Amino acid sequence: MKILVIHGPNLNMLGKRDKSIYGEKTLPEIDALLKKEAQALDVEVVTYQSNHEGSLIDFIQEQSDSAQGIIINPGALTHYGLSLLDALSDSKLPVIEVHLSDIYHREEWRARSVIAPIAEKQIIGLGWRGYITALQTLAGKLKAEPLR
Ligand code: DQA
Repeated sequence: MKILVIHGPNLNMLGKRDKSIYGEKTLPEIDALLKKEAQALDVEVVTYQSNHEGSLIDFIQEQSDSAQGIIINPGALTHYGLSLLDALSDSKLPVIEVHLSDIYHREEWRARSVIAPIAEKQIIGLGWRGYITALQTLAGKLKAEPLR
Protein backbone atom coordinates (compact mmCIF):
# COMPACT_ATOMS: atom_id res chain seq x y z
CA MET A 1 0.00 0.00 0.00
CA LYS A 2 1.47 3.30 -1.14
CA ILE A 3 0.60 6.65 0.45
CA LEU A 4 1.75 9.95 -1.05
CA VAL A 5 2.78 12.68 1.40
CA ILE A 6 2.85 16.04 -0.35
CA HIS A 7 4.21 19.29 1.03
CA GLY A 8 3.41 22.60 -0.64
CA PRO A 9 5.16 25.96 -0.91
CA ASN A 10 7.57 27.15 1.79
CA LEU A 11 7.43 23.92 3.77
CA ASN A 12 11.01 23.23 2.67
CA MET A 13 11.86 26.08 5.06
CA LEU A 14 10.56 24.34 8.18
CA GLY A 15 13.09 24.67 10.99
CA LYS A 16 13.81 28.23 9.78
CA ARG A 17 10.27 29.59 9.34
CA ASP A 18 8.59 31.07 12.41
CA LYS A 19 9.28 28.27 14.89
CA SER A 20 6.68 29.51 17.37
CA ILE A 21 4.05 28.70 14.72
CA TYR A 22 5.52 25.82 12.73
CA GLY A 23 7.83 24.13 15.24
CA GLU A 24 11.52 23.29 15.25
CA LYS A 25 11.65 20.24 13.03
CA THR A 26 12.95 20.44 9.48
CA LEU A 27 11.11 18.82 6.59
CA PRO A 28 13.71 16.04 6.19
CA GLU A 29 13.27 15.26 9.90
CA ILE A 30 9.48 15.08 9.52
CA ASP A 31 9.79 12.91 6.39
CA ALA A 32 12.15 10.56 8.27
CA LEU A 33 9.65 10.25 11.15
CA LEU A 34 6.90 9.51 8.63
CA LYS A 35 8.99 6.80 6.96
CA LYS A 36 9.70 5.23 10.36
CA GLU A 37 5.99 5.18 11.21
CA ALA A 38 5.22 3.82 7.74
CA GLN A 39 7.55 0.91 8.41
CA ALA A 40 5.79 0.18 11.70
CA LEU A 41 2.43 0.29 9.89
CA ASP A 42 3.77 -1.78 7.01
CA VAL A 43 2.88 0.78 4.34
CA GLU A 44 5.03 2.61 1.79
CA VAL A 45 5.27 6.39 1.97
CA VAL A 46 6.50 8.53 -0.93
CA THR A 47 7.20 12.14 0.06
CA TYR A 48 7.38 15.16 -2.22
CA GLN A 49 7.77 18.91 -1.71
CA SER A 50 7.52 21.73 -4.22
CA ASN A 51 7.11 25.47 -4.16
CA HIS A 52 5.25 25.29 -7.48
CA GLU A 53 1.59 24.38 -7.88
CA GLY A 54 2.19 22.85 -11.34
CA SER A 55 4.91 20.56 -10.02
CA LEU A 56 2.61 19.36 -7.23
CA ILE A 57 -0.05 18.63 -9.87
CA ASP A 58 2.47 16.78 -12.08
CA PHE A 59 3.45 14.62 -9.11
CA ILE A 60 -0.17 13.79 -8.26
CA GLN A 61 -0.94 12.92 -11.89
CA GLU A 62 2.17 10.74 -12.22
CA GLN A 63 1.80 8.91 -8.92
CA SER A 64 -1.90 8.55 -8.22
CA ASP A 65 -2.52 5.43 -10.33
CA SER A 66 -0.06 3.48 -8.21
CA ALA A 67 -1.08 4.98 -4.84
CA GLN A 68 -3.95 4.35 -2.44
CA GLY A 69 -4.13 7.63 -0.56
CA ILE A 70 -2.77 11.16 -0.21
CA ILE A 71 -1.70 13.21 2.80
CA ILE A 72 -1.15 16.83 1.85
CA ASN A 73 -0.15 20.07 3.51
CA PRO A 74 -0.77 22.47 0.64
CA GLY A 75 0.83 25.46 2.46
CA ALA A 76 -0.74 28.73 1.29
CA LEU A 77 -2.23 26.93 -1.75
CA THR A 78 -4.75 25.68 0.80
CA HIS A 79 -6.46 29.03 0.53
CA TYR A 80 -6.59 29.54 -3.25
CA GLY A 81 -5.05 26.52 -5.08
CA LEU A 82 -7.97 25.56 -7.31
CA SER A 83 -5.82 23.67 -9.86
CA LEU A 84 -4.36 21.68 -7.00
CA LEU A 85 -7.87 21.00 -5.73
CA ASP A 86 -8.86 19.69 -9.19
CA ALA A 87 -5.80 17.42 -9.36
CA LEU A 88 -6.55 15.98 -5.92
CA SER A 89 -10.17 15.47 -6.83
CA ASP A 90 -9.29 13.89 -10.22
CA SER A 91 -6.97 11.43 -8.46
CA LYS A 92 -10.08 9.88 -6.83
CA LEU A 93 -7.87 8.97 -3.89
CA PRO A 94 -8.80 9.59 -0.26
CA VAL A 95 -7.11 12.81 0.89
CA ILE A 96 -6.18 13.93 4.39
CA GLU A 97 -5.30 17.62 4.72
CA VAL A 98 -2.71 18.48 7.35
CA HIS A 99 -1.70 21.83 8.79
CA LEU A 100 1.01 22.31 11.38
CA SER A 101 -0.74 25.39 12.74
CA ASP A 102 -4.40 25.99 13.58
CA ILE A 103 -5.50 27.83 10.44
CA TYR A 104 -8.84 28.72 12.09
CA HIS A 105 -7.21 30.82 14.77
CA ARG A 106 -4.76 32.90 12.76
CA GLU A 107 -5.30 35.58 10.11
CA GLU A 108 -8.83 35.59 8.69
CA TRP A 109 -7.68 34.65 5.15
CA ARG A 110 -6.17 31.41 6.44
CA ALA A 111 -9.49 30.21 7.81
CA ARG A 112 -10.76 29.22 4.34
CA SER A 113 -9.50 26.00 2.77
CA VAL A 114 -10.48 25.32 -0.85
CA ILE A 115 -9.15 21.77 -0.36
CA ALA A 116 -11.37 20.91 2.64
CA PRO A 117 -14.52 19.99 0.65
CA ILE A 118 -12.75 17.03 -0.99
CA ALA A 119 -10.64 16.04 2.04
CA GLU A 120 -11.88 13.15 4.16
CA LYS A 121 -10.31 14.75 7.20
CA GLN A 122 -8.44 17.86 8.24
CA ILE A 123 -5.79 17.55 10.93
CA ILE A 124 -4.76 20.95 12.21
CA GLY A 125 -2.67 22.52 14.91
CA LEU A 126 -0.82 19.39 16.06
CA GLY A 127 2.57 20.39 14.61
CA TRP A 128 4.62 17.58 13.00
CA ARG A 129 2.63 15.00 14.97
CA GLY A 130 -0.32 15.84 12.75
CA TYR A 131 1.42 14.06 9.86
CA ILE A 132 1.86 10.92 11.95
CA THR A 133 -1.80 11.03 13.02
CA ALA A 134 -2.78 11.46 9.36
CA LEU A 135 -0.68 8.45 8.34
CA GLN A 136 -2.11 6.26 11.12
CA THR A 137 -5.64 7.36 10.24
CA LEU A 138 -5.27 6.80 6.49
CA ALA A 139 -3.40 3.48 6.78
CA GLY A 140 -5.96 2.23 9.32
CA LYS A 141 -8.84 3.23 7.10
CA LEU A 142 -7.31 1.74 3.93
CA LYS A 143 -6.53 -1.52 5.65
CA ALA A 144 -10.03 -1.73 7.11
CA GLU A 145 -11.88 -0.98 3.87
CA PRO A 146 -9.72 -0.69 0.75
CA LEU A 147 -11.10 2.17 -1.33
CA ARG A 148 -9.61 0.99 -4.62
C1 DQA B 1 0.18 25.86 6.81
C2 DQA B 1 -0.78 27.03 7.03
C3 DQA B 1 -0.84 27.91 5.80
O1 DQA B 1 -1.73 28.99 6.00
C4 DQA B 1 0.54 28.46 5.48
O2 DQA B 1 0.48 29.24 4.31
C5 DQA B 1 1.59 27.42 5.41
C6 DQA B 1 1.57 26.34 6.38
C7 DQA B 1 0.37 25.03 8.10
O3 DQA B 1 0.92 23.93 7.99
O4 DQA B 1 0.02 25.47 9.19
O5 DQA B 1 2.51 27.49 4.60
O6 DQA B 1 -0.36 25.00 5.82
